[in-house]
Amino acid sequence: MAVLIIAPGLKADWWARELHEQNPAFDVRIWPDAGDPDDIDYALAWKPPPGVLASFPNLKVVFSLGAGVDHLLIDPDFPPHSRISRVVDPYLTAGMVEYVLLHVLRYHKNQPALDDQQRARVWDDRAHELKQADERRIGILGLGELGQAAARALVALEFDVAGWSRSPKTIADVQCFHGSAGLNDLLARTDILVCLLPLTPETENILCEELFARLPEGAYLINAARGGHLVEDDLIPALESGQLGQATLDVFQTEPLPDNHPFWGHRQITVTPHNASITDPRSVARQIVEGITAVEDGNPLPNAVDRKLGY
Ligand code: NAP
Ligand code: GLV
Repeated sequence: MAVLIIAPGLKADWWARELHEQNPAFDVRIWPDAGDPDDIDYALAWKPPPGVLASFPNLKVVFSLGAGVDHLLIDPDFPPHSRISRVVDPYLTAGMVEYVLLHVLRYHKNQPALDDQQRARVWDDRAHELKQADERRIGILGLGELGQAAARALVALEFDVAGWSRSPKTIADVQCFHGSAGLNDLLARTDILVCLLPLTPETENILCEELFARLPEGAYLINAARGGHLVEDDLIPALESGQLGQATLDVFQTEPLPDNHPFWGHRQITVTPHNASITDPRSVARQIVEGITAVEDGNPLPNAVDRKLGY
């Protein structure tokens, strides 16, 4: 039994060390030095080049090195017999909650305008007119691991929080909407929209002109999910017409964001380099070793992904 790490651009050595620390008996290999392809039972992968996973005929499980699995399912040759497990980790969740709180609070406290005023040496007393948190309506697209944790943290700060998911949910102090009918109701009552959806054929391009039009004028957008959720050409017109007030984007159609991309210099857009929350090998290696042990012992795969749903 061998474990292969396929993560071009990530610190594969660090992952190998952490796996060994958890279980020194593991035969850990780093792609492209896979050895005999028949040996490979498990892979840890982040954005593997399409077609590579198909070259391992005995691959039982692919462990995504992130919460999202779109980077795996995009591969038309993803082995049909391999299952997928994804990261669900307290550090990853905490990182996302921090990101959402940071950017919600920035908009709630009107900080982008205050930054402009500081640069212009303007002391404007109207800056004292702020809303209370319970007057600020937050809408979260996606009420999974990350969306629910963000919702709970915002509720703890007294925000007026609602969320949207595919299936119905009951979450204390959060107004829950679901399905396409529920989306309209969520949008109509949202001042700050936070996207924490997985990228699937159903959610691709969801953040578009038509959706922005259903938000109250001047709403803020925070996309910390995937670049494929946003129709990038629709964003600047929505900001410049005033339909959206500001946008914070952590993820983009093309990453790294190209040098000449108009988002970089736009004063209503905050760009972060896909660092809203980062997988920490120190805690996730343990989870992966437990997952491999579970499968080897004939137990259910933890954090299994439903390949039909795409998340
Ligand atoms: P998750 O636990 O799988 O939750 C996904 C949520 O989205 C669920 O509530 C699900 O509804 C909902 N959903 C899926 N398809 C939907 C649809 N068609 N309509 C309405 N709701 C839908 O995922 P997670 O762990 O919270 O992570 C969410 C995403 O965040 C990941 O897929 C990843 O792309 C992104 N992410 C980004 C970063 C970053 O640094 N920027 C870091 C980590 C993760 P149900 O509850 O009804 O199934
Ligand atoms: C990061 O983007 C993740 O999916 O964990």
